[in-house]
Amino acid sequence: MNFIDIILKKKNKQPLTTEEIYFIVEQINKAPDYQYGALLMAICLNGMDKRETADLTNAMLYSGDIIDLSEIKGIKVDKHSTGGVADTTTLVLAPLAASCGLPVVKMSGRGLGHTGGTLDKLESIPGFNISLTREQAIKQVNNIGVVIMGQTGKLCPADGYLYKLRDVTGTVQSVPLIASSIMSKKLAVGADAIVLDVKCGSGAFMKNIDDARELAKTMVETGKRLDKRITALITDMDQPLGNNIGNTLEVIEAVEILKGGLKGDLYEVSLALGSEMLVLGDIAENTQQAREMLDENIKNGKGLAKFRELIITQGGDPSVLDDYSKFKQPLVSKEIYLEKGFVEAFDTEAVGRASAALGAGRTSYDMPIDYSAGIVLNYRKGDEYDGKKPFAVMYSDDKYKIKDAEEIFVNAVKTGKNRGEKTKPVIQVIR
Ligand code: URA
Repeated sequence: MNFIDIILKKKNKQPLTTEEIYFIVEQINKAPDYQYGALLMAICLNGMDKRETADLTNAMLYSGDIIDLSEIKGIKVDKHSTGGVADTTTLVLAPLAASCGLPVVKMSGRGLGHTGGTLDKLESIPGFNISLTREQAIKQVNNIGVVIMGQTGKLCPADGYLYKLRDVTGTVQSVPLIASSIMSKKLAVGADAIVLDVKCGSGAFMKNIDDARELAKTMVETGKRLDKRITALITDMDQPLGNNIGNTLEVIEAVEILKGGLKGDLYEVSLALGSEMLVLGDIAENTQQAREMLDENIKNGKGLAKFRELIITQGGDPSVLDDYSKFKQPLVSKEIYLEKGFVEAFDTEAVGRASAALGAGRTSYDMPIDYSAGIVLNYRKGDEYDGKKPFAVMYSDDKYKIKDAEEIFVNAVKTGKNRGEKTKPVIQVIR
């Protein structure tokens, strides 16, 4: 088989055979980067059909370890978000779903660029340990029903290689490449069922509903071809999901939801995803029953108690749940005022970048982050802003960072005469 023939075939819009797709993955570290760059661009421009996408997913899946979770009793349901701003659903729904009896093994990632990462949020809890072995994770789930941790083993090294190349060759935006990248990693963590949260809007990879729908449908079909129970929700990322952006701030917002004192878009999306998880995990018969179970465990405190148990088991200080001043505190803050008017639109990606500029995010993997940095929004799309209260408050350890972040933020929010549509947080469910 010849790599150049495969590039030419895709350049000429022909589907690749299963053997050719496995060959592409086998040649990683043998064929030169420039051939992969050319092939990725041809895929990006000419696409792949559903069978090719499933083959690429499978080939990348088998390029590394597959975690065996069979020692955990019950149906293991994983959840994945394509990435957004103030997207803290895992911290709400992992303990909440576990409190309803669903075994939850969540392998999460760190934030990069404008998006936040669950591991960074959890590490803002003093002492919280995200580095567990497979054996420790299995023991913990069998004991308390939930674990949230970093990846163990060498999962999908082929995706690691291709993703890095895509990042520098302008080939990230491609439905088959994104779908196979996400699905290969989800399948490698050994779950029986998967709930996908496909973000759509100015803070997401998929900026419009047609692209988001195509990505969601492709991932659902790929999962089904590979015998997984799978559901995708398309959810709104035309504004930050929660009102708090930044690691500690997002943990606090999740805790407030678990305490029962906070509703809103983050609550809605968390419960919608959690309901699908309980149904796929055979804990509830339908999403309405599942939602009632989740809501009940917020009201009776079982969800919060499970989060406390999770923190204690993973070495964290649970007293932060009762006293937020136990989190690292920021050194400086600034109230941000904007032009009066209706909140018409957010450039959500830029809001995420403003939070990163305050110190909450990183632009390279090894950069330290400031857990207390971030932004609290007081207004959402469709609200009327009268200019009396600050529109937002920024927190950081560095007043110069606040200056940079403010400049990004004020250009990222549009207030004006038109009452912006209040968007629905859950746009569509694809089963
Ligand atoms: N997340 C992934 O893991 N891969 C992509 O290609 C895009 C988002």
